[in-house]
This record gives sequence, C-alpha cells and structure tokens, in this order.
Amino acid sequence: MLPSQHEELARDEITSISKSYDTKTRVQSSPRLVFVESKVSWKKIASRSTFSRYSGEILDTFEDSSQIDLSITKPESFVCRTINLSSKKIGTSLERQVGGILKKKWDSQVSLSNPHLTVYVIVTDDKKYLGIADNIVTPVHPIKSVKHPHEIDMKLGRCVVNLSQLNEGKTLCDPFCGTGTILLEAESMGINAIGIDYDKIMCKITSKNLAANGFRSRVINSQYNKMLDFKDEIDGIVTDLPYGISSRSSIPPQRLVKDFLSIIPKRKKLVMVYKKGLEVEEMNKAKKYEIYRHKSLTRVIGVLS
Ligand SMILES: C[S@@+](CC[C@H](N)C(=O)[O-])C[C@H]1O[C@@H](n2cnc3c(N)ncnc32)[C@H](O)[C@@H]1O
Repeated sequence: MLPSQHEELARDEITSISKSYDTKTRVQSSPRLVFVESKVSWKKIASRSTFSRYSGEILDTFEDSSQIDLSITKPESFVCRTINLSSKKIGTSLERQVGGILKKKWDSQVSLSNPHLTVYVIVTDDKKYLGIADNIVTPVHPIKSVKHPHEIDMKLGRCVVNLSQLNEGKTLCDPFCGTGTILLEAESMGINAIGIDYDKIMCKITSKNLAANGFRSRVINSQYNKMLDFKDEIDGIVTDLPYGISSRSSIPPQRLVKDFLSIIPKRKKLVMVYKKGLEVEEMNKAKKYEIYRHKSLTRVIGVLS
C-alpha cells in the first residue's frame, strides 16, 4: 500500500526495485495500491523500498466474507487488519467478520501485538482483496555519524538509489557526495559506490560516515568530472547537486547543472536531485518528482535513462 503523499514516487520506486531484479515484472496499479508480479519476493522489495506503507502477498479477492477460504498453513497466531481505501466508511465489522471466519477455520490464537501472520483485508471501491504478511519488513538504514545541514535524509537517499534500478554488485557514482548519504544507502543494499566532492571537509565527513558502518565505498576529493575516469566501471549516476543555499557550489548552481549534464556518459542511468527552479532544457525528457521541503526549497528528482 502506498502513502497518499508522494504516491507516484512510491509506486515508481517499487516498480524500479522489482525491475532491477526481473525485467519482466508486471505492475498493476489502483489508487494507493501497486500490485507487482515478479520473480523477486515481496520481502526483498519491502526491505529496500522507503515509501511503501504496508507490503505483503495478495492471495485472493472476495465479494462476500462467506466466500473467504485462505488455503494456507495454519499460523500459530494471527491478526486481521482492514485497510479501507474506498470512499465509504466501513468500521470494524468486516475485520471482525473475517477474523471470526479465520479463527474458526484455523483455531489459532489472535495476537494484536505480535502475530505470526497479519491478514490484510483491503477494501477499494471496486474490489476487496485478501493479503497476508508473515512479518513486517522495513528497510534498515545505515548509521550517519556526522551530519551537515545540506544533506538529504536517508529515506530520500535510498529512494533515489532505488530509482536507478541498480542492485547488488552494480556500481554507482555520486559526483557531489557531500556527507555520503547516497553512498551509504547504496552500499547498505550491496551496491558498490564511488563518491566525489570538491570540498575536502565533505570527503572527510563521508569517509567517517562510511567507516562508522564498516563500508568500503571510495571517496575522491575532486571536481565532479573526475567521474569520467570511472565511466567504464559505473552502471549509473545518482547524485544531489548543490542548491546554492547552504550547500556550496563551485560555480552558479544552474550552470553547474548544465555543465554536469553535458558530460554524462552515454547509456548510464541518471537520477539527479536538484533545486526546483534550476531546470535546464536537458532535463525536459526526464521523469520528475517534486518534494517540498520548506518555503525556499522544493527538491526535484529527475530520472533519465
Ligand atoms: C547538496 S550537496 C550534496 C549533499 C549530499 N547528498 C548529502 O546528503 O550530504 C552538494 C555537494 O556538491 C559539492 N560540490 C559543489 N561543487 C562541486 C563540484 N564542482 N564538484 C564536486 N563537488 C561539488 C559540495 O561540496 C556539496 O557537498
């Protein structure tokens, strides 16, 4: 299930993760829901995705609760939860009805706080779905020992890595790495990372943050175009450019965006975070998502393949 805020971003993040493992992934969408049919398990997707609210396996649809027949191994304990995405109020009666049917069928304990199985009854205006999750999977973020005002939060860092469709064993470059948020999230998901920053202090911060996690991503104190030395090694570029407010920029930020885009090696996926207003023509073809931070900063995530 997707959050109401950033729904499109959340949907595309899940689709990107799944496609990075299985290009034949089939995705169906309905408001606040995304259904993924893929070789990759839902737990793998849930362990990476930052914006999904609830994840699990859809087993069936039903119209009437009397039709419910969950043919799975009886759990030791369970809880039934309703997710109402319909335009009507439904109260708790459906949840209690379904819970009662399953209790009778399984004779398992009902555990509200620590169930072995959560049964989701998802109600939309068109359909009622029955889903299960045998544990709640949430992403584990790396430690950030040194912070800085211009950093992006770990959640956004992970999301942009996910949008790059890279997975374990691939290599990403962040040529404006700052405190290393993107490198940390990448390495925590098994993606090799190379960071570059022209500011020596930022490189030191990144190195400390990597060391705090026992990570080994490379950090290079240089201008962004140093990434060209690694162009045969890297599979994608994921980065967050200076905004011209608290983050320092070697040249005016808009010119930097333009110059940077002019040297992106061909056939490399690019996921770029920049300040709204720094748009350049080269990003016209990108898929874009906006994230409001405060009145003087809305970030844009642009994805170019
Ligand atoms: C918005 S910050 C990146 C923040 C980072 N995502 C984080 O979470 O900490 C942009 C970074 O670009 C660096 N930078 C500015 N001009 C640069 C250039 N020409 N080449 C490389 N790095 C540069 C700045 O030092 C700054 O650390």
